[in-house]
Amino acid sequence: MKVGFIGLGSMGLPIARHVLQAGHTVVVYNRTRSRADALKPLPPAVADSPAAAARSAEVLVTMVADDAALEDVMLGASGALAALARGAIHVSMSTISPKLSRALAERHRAAGQEYVAAPVFGRPEAAEAKKLWVVAAGPAPAIERCRPLLDAMGQGVIVAGDDPGRANVIKLAGNFLLAAAIEAMGEAFALVRKYDVAPADLLEIVNGRLFRSPIYENYGKLIAEERYEPAGFKLRYGLKDVRLALGAADDVAAPMPLASLIRDRYLSGVARGWGDIDWAGLARVAAADAGLSPPRSPG
Ligand SMILES: NC(=O)c1ccc[n+]([C@@H]2O[C@H](COP(=O)([O-])OP(=O)(O)OC[C@H]3O[C@@H](n4cnc5c(N)ncnc54)[C@H](OP(=O)(O)O)[C@@H]3O)[C@@H](O)[C@H]2O)c1
Repeated sequence: MKVGFIGLGSMGLPIARHVLQAGHTVVVYNRTRSRADALKPLPPAVADSPAAAARSAEVLVTMVADDAALEDVMLGASGALAALARGAIHVSMSTISPKLSRALAERHRAAGQEYVAAPVFGRPEAAEAKKLWVVAAGPAPAIERCRPLLDAMGQGVIVAGDDPGRANVIKLAGNFLLAAAIEAMGEAFALVRKYDVAPADLLEIVNGRLFRSPIYENYGKLIAEERYEPAGFKLRYGLKDVRLALGAADDVAAPMPLASLIRDRYLSGVARGWGDIDWAGLARVAAADAGLSPPRSPG
């Protein structure tokens, strides 16, 4: 399959690598061109613009940061949408608003193209290990045509119907649940630290007895060890996603008071200069509010 691939960040890079390894012909574009070097020795062609990556693609995959970045690469100067052939499919994997997803689906339909929303659950390590879960929504025949690609990217595909916005809402709801778990653990670990309890003691109860799940295990460990760098998923993207959840909730009058609180906690993290640490660093906000100082970074 001829694939265009836009966005070689922490997630896009390992996903693009799997697509190449599955034997597809890939043209990549990344705003910072040198990122494509990390795909060596695999041989993708490297395009100079989103349009050039899209021109000969049967399927165009995008994995850029947010709504604004996706609008830039699809609709901006040298944007991909105008260059994409009729009948081609855009597989849109970023975590974005359902609103933009639906608007893009309309624009593609008007251009005789197809649009599939395919956001993912799993961090860069999961992407490397082909352990992502893909939530796909869009016209069923288009999803089936992309299936070989989606199968090459992760451990499974969950189909969420033909309205692309549904996949994005599921992704936002899922990330809200994760952020809520992180906030709760952040507060709990700050509490026990104030009583000189070793974080490992709480962690043992959380993982071994109360909440056996990879989420509590993995994030609990990061929080107990205060290990937020390098970021797998940046704290400022956690803020982006909770804002997106609140925007989507606002559109349908679904109050999310807990999401509002978490938005402010993330804002507080960004205001303290922690936007680029891992989003589990929300726990550092709870710790700082409790008068606990972050450990000194080595060197
Ligand atoms: N990391 C995770 O754990 C994770 C998990 C699930 C979903 N996601 C979602 O996946 C998406 C990508 O996340 P990531 O962690 O890979 O982010 P990242 O490492 O920060 O990469 C962001 C990518 O977007 C590109 N980009 C940003 N602004 C752009 C613009 N205005 N025009 C063109 N390209 C632009 C960047 O290009 P440059 O290289 O030039 O900066 C880079 O390729 C996000 O929507 C995120 O929410 C992330």
